[in-house]
Amino acid sequence: MSAHENNKVLIVTGGSRGIGAATACLAAQQGYAVAVNYRRNQAAANRVVQSINQSGGQAIALAADVALEHEVTQLFATVDDQLGTVTALVNNAGILESQMRVHRMDAARLQRIFQTNVIGSFLCAREAVRRMSTQQGGTGGAIVNVSSVAARLGSPGEYVDYAASKGAIDTLTIGLAKEVAHEGIRVNAVRPGFIDTDIHVAGGEPDRIERVKASVPLQRGGKAIEVAHAILWLLSTAAAYTTGSFIDVAGGK
Ligand SMILES: NC(=O)c1ccc[n+]([C@@H]2O[C@H](COP(=O)([O-])OP(=O)(O)OC[C@H]3O[C@@H](n4cnc5c(N)ncnc54)[C@H](OP(=O)(O)O)[C@@H]3O)[C@@H](O)[C@H]2O)c1
Repeated sequence: MSAHENNKVLIVTGGSRGIGAATACLAAQQGYAVAVNYRRNQAAANRVVQSINQSGGQAIALAADVALEHEVTQLFATVDDQLGTVTALVNNAGILESQMRVHRMDAARLQRIFQTNVIGSFLCAREAVRRMSTQQGGTGGAIVNVSSVAARLGSPGEYVDYAASKGAIDTLTIGLAKEVAHEGIRVNAVRPGFIDTDIHVAGGEPDRIERVKASVPLQRGGKAIEVAHAILWLLSTAAAYTTGSFIDVAGGK
């Protein structure tokens, strides 16, 4: 089947590593043509694409910084050309910075966190809605936002800025779900807990999960693939009556 004949077209932002990479691979196994977006790590994105293509799936790697509006519009336009109109979006790209108390945070840091995590997710959702909305000539679709349990826990002493950005993602999920429900688009979110990925390196504590896992009722960190399964369910027709909803993938945390 050529890319244009495949009617399931997924964009995963930050699909080169961690939860995004696991989501891209699982989606390809379920028949999606996948755009694996990344910011800098082209080698990692290429590895994901290669692994999908070698397994008989369809994927392309596309560089774009979701924090930059013109790069987001270019990303979606390239997907239109190369894979066909997007039917599914996973707003996964997200960053955090060194663990720090709020009283030490400067405005530049706050801008970086909110620009990527919040504005990036809004911009990608906007581009997806413009293409999916039945009121704008589209055939519908599904969006999953990757929030965090930090949105309800607050991440004190670590990154309250990051937690607050995920709180905004939760509100985006609720509001956009209601706004586009009658246009054939469902919008949901997953809230992962402590998942074993590279993101903890950016916080300055690569072994963070080892330190915090005892506080998790299931007594361990999670795996990226365990989050990917929840994301793929929310995107699927099995979740046809689910919108504005959240799945916590957090071991009971
Ligand atoms: N891991 C956890 O414990 C955890 C818990 C709760 C929520 N989450 C959320 O899950 C999502 C994925 O986290 P992860 O742990 O898988 O992260 P990760 O391993 O650090 O991977 C981050 C991914 O996002 C991409 N990215 C970062 N900034 C970007 C930007 N401005 N534009 C485009 N892509 C960008 C990276 O691209 P490059 O490879 O090019 O750098 C990479 O593919 C994030 O939203 C995070 O907040 C994670």
